[in-house]
Amino acid sequence: MSSGGTSTGGAAGSSGSAAAGRPPSDAGAGGVPPIGPGGAPNGGNPAVAGAAGAGGTPTAELPPAGGNGSLKDKFQNYFPIGAAVDANGPTTHGELLSRHFDSVTPENEMKFASLQPTEGQFTYGPADRIVQYASQNGMKVRGHALVWHSQNPDWLWQGPGGGTVSKQTLLARMKAHIDAVAKHFRGKVYCWDVVNEAVMNDGHLRGPDEPDGQKSRWLELIGEEYIAEAFRYAHEADPDAKLFYNDFYNYIPDKQQAIYELMKKLLEAGVPVHGVGLQAHLNIEPSTDPMNQAYHQHVEKLEKAIQLYSSLGLEVQITELDLSLYIPGVMYTEDTFYTAATFTAELKARQAARYRAFFEMFRRHHRELTGVTLWGIADDNTWLSEFASMRKDFPLLFDDRHMTKPAYDAVMDW
Ligand code: G3I
Repeated sequence: MSSGGTSTGGAAGSSGSAAAGRPPSDAGAGGVPPIGPGGAPNGGNPAVAGAAGAGGTPTAELPPAGGNGSLKDKFQNYFPIGAAVDANGPTTHGELLSRHFDSVTPENEMKFASLQPTEGQFTYGPADRIVQYASQNGMKVRGHALVWHSQNPDWLWQGPGGGTVSKQTLLARMKAHIDAVAKHFRGKVYCWDVVNEAVMNDGHLRGPDEPDGQKSRWLELIGEEYIAEAFRYAHEADPDAKLFYNDFYNYIPDKQQAIYELMKKLLEAGVPVHGVGLQAHLNIEPSTDPMNQAYHQHVEKLEKAIQLYSSLGLEVQITELDLSLYIPGVMYTEDTFYTAATFTAELKARQAARYRAFFEMFRRHHRELTGVTLWGIADDNTWLSEFASMRKDFPLLFDDRHMTKPAYDAVMDW
């Protein structure tokens, strides 16, 4: 266990570390059939058949609560419920997975470095095992993620003759990767996070000037067109897959607006983007510091993002939901890290109330939302307790022993 303090307001760790994919200002804090641009939202979601158009206010009566004892049954008329899994998930968490979830997202197994560690040599084994499990259990698979600034192999940035790769070669490598991967999983992965985390908190595109671990070489070496090209390549390779732009902190007004404008621009240019993923790595309470990203972490601000993106005719999904006990911007030391003993009934109730509030909002927007995915299954396996943070967190609906938590009861209580 680390003896140093961990601030939730610090920068993320270096590329390739557990912190690399972590939403940057919270290091340690936690971090369906095809649809065309402008097409009707929520294609394939039975809850929205015949619903009003994009961004429309729900008019019909909400479906009655159905079933109990299973997340996916409870929400069956609202949206599919998903979970991120690692390659061992089907073994270690199989019972929870099959009982409660409609879909899975491989947590790391479909990232660039996992699938193509050496140029031209693809390692599909772990991802294939998750896909096979999903198929055998009637679950859908979200693909995550084709183009991201993090978890890339070093060879990607090196020119064939040494030095830095040229724009042309990098574009060709991106195309070759997307082509191979999307074709390999065609018919098995129903949607892809094509581009992940391209926008920074103040709305500028992630580029070479960000802190270590946060830089995007895609933007640096190709320019903004890498985003549109990634979607075009993915659509060419799998015309049936739904293609998403995925990002975190969508509740920050500047970032929210910048993503809206990026999506609008892509759609106007005829780029095949079909949805926006809101990661939704949440905390037990918003920050009180106006300079902290989590100052904006309120239900109504995330709700605004759903309304804004769906007003473009795009699907919206919650893609990486969890709810950390740690408050962004607060400094924690080893003696204040949470343990089973300090995760008190009062704290469990607070976590439950916050989950309830977000899920109530999600249900209000069941016509716009085509999926809600939790980033993990149970508290015994969560990125928030991994490597870089060196501290235990309790962010999910099931506890270390796979029993339901008050948060689960709150999500199911309607
Ligand atoms: O598998 C190796 C293991 O062999 C090695 O011993 C160990 C020691 O470093 O590392 C293991 O790999 C780790 C991997 O998780 C599997 O546990 C990587 O170091 C670690 O960087 C990686 O962290 C993942 C992170 O993305 C970076 O890719 C987290 O599990 C994963 O939850 C997280 O997910 C991201 C989303 O993709 C994008 N949105 C944010 C989200 C949370 O950061």
